[in-house]
Amino acid sequence: MNSLNPPNLIITGFMGTGKSAVAREVARQLGRPFVDMDALIEEREGRTIPRIFRESGEPYFRRVEAELAQELAIRSGLVIATGGGTLMLEASRRALLRSGVVICLWADINVLIERLQDDTQRPLLHRPDWERYLRELLAVRKPVYRSLPYHVDTTGKDVRQVAAEVITIYYGAVSDGTPSSFQA
Ligand code: S3P
Repeated sequence: MNSLNPPNLIITGFMGTGKSAVAREVARQLGRPFVDMDALIEEREGRTIPRIFRESGEPYFRRVEAELAQELAIRSGLVIATGGGTLMLEASRRALLRSGVVICLWADINVLIERLQDDTQRPLLHRPDWERYLRELLAVRKPVYRSLPYHVDTTGKDVRQVAAEVITIYYGAVSDGTPSSFQA
């Protein structure tokens, strides 16, 4: 790995933790290409995520998402914002962990509920009991998020503060040689 071939910087975390905004800011500051996985899926499919879920179902979306994770994992130097569920699939998790530094954003559950309450773009929350469902989904996913190597709590911080923490973690990890491709 050299400066022409730097590890990817992958930002993940639950819905509403600010992955896309933070990743965009990090990419801007580092002058690296930014890939928002959900946005790229929408662009390639020519339809929104809610429409993909409605017309083709969640399993179809998960397949497309998993293929994209593999495709991005063989590239380098990218700043990637995953979808909230991308790393729940072990194969995607392994591939992206090998390709770079995975940083998981976090926020207090009440902050997430506040941020997501008027959302229309997240099909998983299109249900009357969305708040209860969100708590359950977060509880189910928490062990996986927790297992990731780096975490940033975004509660009460703005995008620039979180981006600065992410960049510090990334360079620390790269200088330690911690992306798992170096360990595998
Ligand atoms: C999902 C999160 C969404 C999007 C899709 C499914 C999830 O991304 O990929 O609606 O399973 O948590 P965001 O986390 O960017 O909202």
